[in-house]
Amino acid sequence: MAKTQAPEDAFTAEPFVPDRGGLAALRRAAAGCRGCPLHRDATQTVFGAGNADARVMLVGEQPGDQEDRQGKPFVGPAGRLLDRALAEAGIDPGETYVTNAVKHFKFTRAEPRKRRIHKAPSLRETAACAPWLAAELAVVEPELIVVLGATAGKALLGSSFRVGEVRGTLLERQVHGRPRRLVPTVHPSSVLRADEPDRDKAYAGLVADLEVAARVLAG
Ligand code: URA
Ligand code: SF4
Repeated sequence: MAKTQAPEDAFTAEPFVPDRGGLAALRRAAAGCRGCPLHRDATQTVFGAGNADARVMLVGEQPGDQEDRQGKPFVGPAGRLLDRALAEAGIDPGETYVTNAVKHFKFTRAEPRKRRIHKAPSLRETAACAPWLAAELAVVEPELIVVLGATAGKALLGSSFRVGEVRGTLLERQVHGRPRRLVPTVHPSSVLRADEPDRDKAYAGLVADLEVAARVLAG
């Protein structure tokens, strides 16, 4: 008989998360996370980065190809678009903390040695990685969370989250047992994937949602 594998639900980062220490301790520990199988093929853990005292935390999906190589979130094309949109909305990208729902890059390759193609993380992988996001929230304690797309929304607000229903609105919800304020919007990669002329409209929509976040921060 084949040896039975641990159920996928057993995937969790929990045993790897230190219960004391700040972001530096979390980042060090996350580098060794084996909480789900995604660490196997990725280059490295991509932990959150930015201002530890940030008033706003931006949560994306998972690192992309560039992020996986460089070890930092949002340093590729999606990140450049996001920075531009933030600045246009009146939020200084340098005053934010950016992270992802999932800390390892998940990808497929059409052929060996070919370009790595992003693959969406499963709900189980997202749930496995959630203790890192919860720990980042507990340390940074942002006044506002900007939710970038469906994966981040499901990670923070549950699997019934639909970005189209709530984008550009201020939500006040319990997140990991704490009251949080959130403004959801689309993922910047979805703007990059849109074809002209839809891309301009998609970009303008992202900026408009981020302006809602900017107004919340302005009080
Ligand atoms: N997309 C994400 O969701 N996160 C990144 O860090 C880069 C691209
Ligand atoms: Fe750990 Fe998250 Fe990486 Fe899975 S994706 S190994 S839970 S850090």
